[in-house]
Amino acid sequence: MAENFDFDEVIDRREVPTLKVHRMVLGGDGMDLFPAGVADMDFRAPKPILDVLARRLGHGVFGYETVPDGLMPALIAWMEQRHAWDIHPDHILRAPNVLNSLSMATNLFTEPGDCIIVQPPVFFDFADIIAENGRRMVENPLVLSSDRYEMDFDGLETCAADPRTKMLFLCNPHNPVGRVWTKTELAQLGAICRKNEVIVVSDEIHADITFQDHTYTPFASISDADAQNSITCLSPAKSFNIAACCSAFAVVSDESRRNALKAENSRLTVNKNNAFASVAMEAAYKDGGPWLDSAITYIEGNLSLVRACLSDIPEVSLIEPEGTFLLWLDFRNLGLQPHELTQFLRSEAGWAITRGIAFGDSGAGFGRLNIACPRARLEKALDRLVHAISTTRDASK
Ligand SMILES: Cc1ncc(COP(=O)(O)O)c(C=O)c1O
Repeated sequence: MAENFDFDEVIDRREVPTLKVHRMVLGGDGMDLFPAGVADMDFRAPKPILDVLARRLGHGVFGYETVPDGLMPALIAWMEQRHAWDIHPDHILRAPNVLNSLSMATNLFTEPGDCIIVQPPVFFDFADIIAENGRRMVENPLVLSSDRYEMDFDGLETCAADPRTKMLFLCNPHNPVGRVWTKTELAQLGAICRKNEVIVVSDEIHADITFQDHTYTPFASISDADAQNSITCLSPAKSFNIAACCSAFAVVSDESRRNALKAENSRLTVNKNNAFASVAMEAAYKDGGPWLDSAITYIEGNLSLVRACLSDIPEVSLIEPEGTFLLWLDFRNLGLQPHELTQFLRSEAGWAITRGIAFGDSGAGFGRLNIACPRARLEKALDRLVHAISTTRDASK
């Protein structure tokens, strides 16, 4: 019998210090806004995870632990069964989180002043990591043509050919534009990077959430050569809504890079195991599949709602996503400057979404809406947007 999952349940996220509803994110004057910025879900995590956490808590002893025997096999089986990616167990390293792996790779495999390619609009922390490590960011912006973002491979060739360029941060699938890169696109990117000795650091944290007709391709599964030339960063944080109680993994096929990362983990003592993260991740990969499938269906339902609503509003268009629970909305027809758009959405529509400009200059006029929330909340928010826009329209007649 199919299990039932209740994604409609409204859970008060203010009961714990949740970033998404914190004044740090919403601003002191925005505590009642529709909180749809930070990239996590408003859904309760899958029951197998909650059960195993409760059992682990009940054990009552929390001394030093090793990695549970079942964790790596669970991750490997998940990747194999869900994504047809065969990972060698020796190639997997534990990591505290995905961004930590990006930062470590930057530090170990590039020199200060080296260039790292990013393809904006893209997850803003990429820019911070590059700047904070004293490297230079080189932008190869995605190209928006017929409402779909594509990689600019000519631009990529040029950026990669610069001898100062040593690395590329790939976001696969891509936050915020929702592209699930195809095998062909990834192969082309991989070939350009290999030809120019540019290492690919592939952030695949959004891998598990893809929509019908779109398939996530692990970058390292393209070819052995691409596996050798890449570091893949994985985590169950987004898929099972456990960002606050999980850690992450880096898959590194190249032995010398793997050894360098291991040595750095040791030097920084980034090698302790959190009991709760371990059991939560193992349960997620072993038993979280049915919940995830239902969550994706629910998110697709929310997407249909947004699509239907926006089809009546010419001022706002949806960039059709292929995956992730983040929607990239084009508000450019409103003719507002980025700060005016933020202000309009907050004061007139009651929306707190992520400003498009935060993802790079090409994000100006856009916004990122998180739709992993109970449907009733989204419906209400959409009604308020429709009302705000029709009021503005009427006022300008
Ligand atoms: C593309 C991407 N990478 C990394 C992260 C953060 O990952 P972690 O918390 O594991 O560092 C996020 C969170 O929004 C993300 O969207």
